[in-house]
Amino acid sequence: MNLTGKRIIVTGSARGMGAATVRAYVKAGAQVIGMDVEDVAGIKVAVDASEVGPGTASYVHVDITSRSSVEVAFAEATKILGGLDALAHPAAIQRSSDAGDVSVEDWDLMFAINVRGTMLTNQVAYHAIKATGGGSIINFGSISGQRPEPGAAAYSASKGAVHSWTRTAAGTWGKDNIRVNAILPAMATPMYLEARARSTPEQNTISHWRNQVPIALGGVYGDPDRDLGPVMVFLASDASRFITGQLIPVDGGQTNVR
Ligand SMILES: NC(=O)c1ccc[n+]([C@@H]2O[C@H](COP(=O)([O-])OP(=O)(O)OC[C@H]3O[C@@H](n4cnc5c(N)ncnc54)[C@H](O)[C@@H]3O)[C@@H](O)[C@H]2O)c1
Repeated sequence: MNLTGKRIIVTGSARGMGAATVRAYVKAGAQVIGMDVEDVAGIKVAVDASEVGPGTASYVHVDITSRSSVEVAFAEATKILGGLDALAHPAAIQRSSDAGDVSVEDWDLMFAINVRGTMLTNQVAYHAIKATGGGSIINFGSISGQRPEPGAAAYSASKGAVHSWTRTAAGTWGKDNIRVNAILPAMATPMYLEARARSTPEQNTISHWRNQVPIALGGVYGDPDRDLGPVMVFLASDASRFITGQLIPVDGGQTNVR
């Protein structure tokens, strides 16, 4: 699949799946703008990807919780790119919390970044992509939004909201030739490693049985460049032109979407 001529914004581009997505898109020939709050790492990802080519990447700062920040960053990116064909939106945070005592602060933080951030980036991208005649928006949900998640109450609820939003946006924007899907990944990234480091040995044992053992393809989390990148290219390309409103696990069989 070739993305030559495609103009794409990737949020959360400083590390993890966002960084892998920037690399995959540039390798497929696209013009990419990475965005994050972590500017030093974000610039390095873009520079390194551009050196490999054949596409190009540059970087623009964004805080996805802020409407003005998203509007300014997306306007700048769209101007640099000369239009917008796709948005890949992995940016999010994950924190532990218990349903019995999750704080308002934790709840609001998770919803500001994961849910409001998805609405704002999608909404602003929608208007830019519509102006170019259509394209693709790729959100990031989670198995946590599909099942009980005793260790991550607020995160789980926020990802459930991302799933609902994705279906609604797909249903609303299909008439404008804009597809909206969500990836449900299981990838070894900094977010995954930090969650493990925050957990007790007992919690990690539970997580091993709940999350790793069900991965039919090898029993370990995937590599974002090898296992996610090609899927991101497919979903940004015209090859996926008849797929919208779907929750798509890229997780080696960890979960099933019904
Ligand atoms: N890692 C997994 O296995 C896994 C499993 C299920 C779902 N997910 C989801 O996949 C997506 C990508 O996860 P990852 O593991 O690559 O995460 P990550 O933590 O490695 O990367 C997330 C990026 O988002 C950025 N970010 C955070 N807040 C931001 C803000 N306000 N504005 C702009 N950027 C911001 C961070 O700086 C970081 O670079 C997330 O939506 C996550 O919830 C991950």
